[in-house]
Amino acid sequence: MAIGVKALPFTFVVHALAIVGAILVLVWCIDFRGGLAWEASNKSLIFNLHPVLMLIGLIIIGGEAIISYKALTLRKEVKKLIHLVLHAIALILGIIGIYAAFKYHNESSIANLYSLHSWIGIAVISLYGIQWIYGFVIFFYPGGSTGLRSESLPWHVLFGLFVYVLAVGNAAIGFLEKLTFLENSGLAKYGAEALLVNFTAVLTILYGAFVILSVASQGPVEDDYSYSAI
Ligand code: HEM
Repeated sequence: MAIGVKALPFTFVVHALAIVGAILVLVWCIDFRGGLAWEASNKSLIFNLHPVLMLIGLIIIGGEAIISYKALTLRKEVKKLIHLVLHAIALILGIIGIYAAFKYHNESSIANLYSLHSWIGIAVISLYGIQWIYGFVIFFYPGGSTGLRSESLPWHVLFGLFVYVLAVGNAAIGFLEKLTFLENSGLAKYGAEALLVNFTAVLTILYGAFVILSVASQGPVEDDYSYSAI
């Protein structure tokens, strides 16, 4: 199923929003929140790794992985490899990002897994991992039978988009939650930082929307050596 427009222009918007989103979250965490660290006496610097790795890793690199079939005019086998490697990078950065949130909580004696955001977050990273392993085994190595691959493909696309939309929504909840904590501790509600965080969340949602638009549109023309859905 594809809407009757070409995907390529949408994929350019995805790349542009990716760059802006990465810059915004880095400016927020480094300039406004004091920087990033794995070990620090100021534990907030450990937390700052969380939004950076979740947005740049899971959402942005994950989004680029999803649109790779629509954005690139390479051979199908090459695009498949790029798709699975980018998803693996997104998944690994996502796991490290979640680990950073736990590390921050543990070293600051804050409870774990008390929020809706954290519950959905665990669901997202688990489903993302399951989706990656299933895709790897069926479509890459050792690879399923032709029948199993073609039956699995629509489920792979549907389930992948479902998990991705859930991840984008949960990232927006994460920005909301952190900003609410900061505002409750005195941060100005209409100040520069509050606007920056809200704007980054809006951009994250826009990014997700253009990823979905790219997927729903027509990719490069098919021939024996280039595009097919998987
Ligand atoms: C899809 C992306 C994301 C996922 C899967 C995710 C997942 C998680 C998980 C599993 C935790 C629980 C850690 C613990 O209990 O120790 C957590 C905590 C947290 N995350 Fe995220 N996160 C994401 C994006 C973000 C973003 C972009 C922000 C923006 C600042 C954020 C803000 C927070 C905050 C404030 C906490 C601590 C409070 C809490 O546990 O709810 N998250 N996240």
